[in-house]
Amino acid sequence: MDAGGVADTVYCPFVCYVILYRRTFSGMLFSINAPIKILSMHMMPFTLDDCKKNPPRILAKGRWANADLSLFDQGSTTWVIKDFSPCRLPVRYSIGIFMVRRELLALKRLQGIPGIAVEPFRLSPFALAYHYIPGATLKESRRADTVTPDFFMQLEDVVLRMHERNLVHLDIRYMRNILITPEGAPAILDFQSSLALDRIPRMFHQLLKAVDLSGVYKCWQKVCPGTLDAERTALLEAVQKKRSLWIFKGYPLGTRFSRR
Ligand SMILES: Nc1ncnc2c1ncn2[C@@H]1O[C@H](COP(=O)(O)OP(=O)(O)O)[C@@H](O)[C@H]1O
Ligand SMILES: [Mg+2]
Repeated sequence: MDAGGVADTVYCPFVCYVILYRRTFSGMLFSINAPIKILSMHMMPFTLDDCKKNPPRILAKGRWANADLSLFDQGSTTWVIKDFSPCRLPVRYSIGIFMVRRELLALKRLQGIPGIAVEPFRLSPFALAYHYIPGATLKESRRADTVTPDFFMQLEDVVLRMHERNLVHLDIRYMRNILITPEGAPAILDFQSSLALDRIPRMFHQLLKAVDLSGVYKCWQKVCPGTLDAERTALLEAVQKKRSLWIFKGYPLGTRFSRR
């Protein structure tokens, strides 16, 4: 067994214990939902063992601090698996666990909003899975001249509905995080940089929400130039002015330039 394997053998039970304890048993005394939580852990749509029997297809390889994305077919459903396991051990046990938790909580919070991947669940401490959404990213489809201002109005609506659930995405300006379905509807991907606003002081909420909206408007302006109205342009410019001082610039270890 190599050094990574030995470390996994030592750390993995510990990490699983901490996660299970925090997610399940710590709430047990206080929560009548505890038995349901324990049951749901045994009701995952598929497991890592299923992936060994029917290996997922690679969708995108992450670089050193990014997850690998792959597709797993189960009956008529295609799942996306976002997995930090191939990252180096210190990354997998820090960023990996943290990002999986953050994205999972965001997706769960947003269930029911059209344009959000459904049925997210934790496949392992380092991986989550959710439904694949057919379509192309805005990055891929922007040159096809098929994207209209109406698409961005719909995207804005998804973002406003997300904000109603007290969550900001903070990485919408990257066109790879926006998908256009075959019906022409928007979907938002990649909630690694998202932030639940529950514990953020109220004075910052409006600014954080404006960052998301400016992301929509930035894409809108690039893809359909000349169609952004004055009010939206003003918001975009106001946020852009503040961006030089900005700390919330999306996932700092992002995949924009290279992947593994
Ligand atoms: N639910 C999904 N449906 C379809 N494609 C997806 C889905 N999730 C991710 N992808 C594809 O994988 C790419 C990377 O996913 P993302 O969640 O943005 O990961 P990363 O953190 O590496 O940026 C997206 O640009 C998109 O092409
Ligand atoms: Mg992304």
